[in-house]
Amino acid sequence: MPKKDLSAEQKYRKYFHNGDRREIFRLLVEKYGVESAIYPGSYIDIAPSFYIPITVYIDSFKKTNKFFEANDIMDFVSSNREYTKTPIIRYHYSDYNMDFGEKVENFDLLISLYAGFVSESCKKYLKKDGILLANNSHGDAGIAYLDDDFELMAAIYKSNGQYRLTEKNLDKYFIPKKQELKITKDYLKKINRGVGYTKTSSAYVFKKIK
Ligand SMILES: C[S@@+](CC[C@H](N)C(=O)[O-])C[C@H]1O[C@@H](n2cnc3c(N)ncnc32)[C@H](O)[C@@H]1O
Repeated sequence: MPKKDLSAEQKYRKYFHNGDRREIFRLLVEKYGVESAIYPGSYIDIAPSFYIPITVYIDSFKKTNKFFEANDIMDFVSSNREYTKTPIIRYHYSDYNMDFGEKVENFDLLISLYAGFVSESCKKYLKKDGILLANNSHGDAGIAYLDDDFELMAAIYKSNGQYRLTEKNLDKYFIPKKQELKITKDYLKKINRGVGYTKTSSAYVFKKIK
């Protein structure tokens, strides 16, 4: 018997293993009125489209194509979306360091989760005053913290199983545990992971100030 193709929802449940972080996107929409996002190194993490009407996904892993090209992807998004507009989803099978044909300074939100140094390569796509969501798994939040184009504006943390956002005590983050360590962008790129900081959070929100 020919194998039945999984639906987009079944694929998402089967192959997406980085936890349910959809609450983070809801928080960003509620707090900052995000209407459009760009997600380099997204893999099949379609959750932003449940809250954000326009989202562009980019990945260089070929198997991601099949997920985004499936006929029922819009049904999956539409049945989970929390806005009334028709969702707009674009997917580019590309290295995010290359030109994949999107307009610069066009997005409210840039997403950098577990996918390398997205903040540097893709900040050009963010509008001025747009926001970057970054975690520090590969050191990208640390790089954004050192980048003059960005200013830390919030931390996202988990408490009692729920994601929450705080704009308080931001001066307590990104203080290295090893005080003698001279942390530069080049150093973070070389080690390709976050360094130990005295206070950390699940993810961070930066504003593009230039
Ligand atoms: C560990 S997964 C993370 C997926 C998703 N961001 C998440 O948080 O669950 C990293 C993804 O980034 C993609 N990736 C890494 N470097 C990339 C690059 N230079 N261009 C495009 N995609 C990239 C990989 O193909 C992979 O699908």
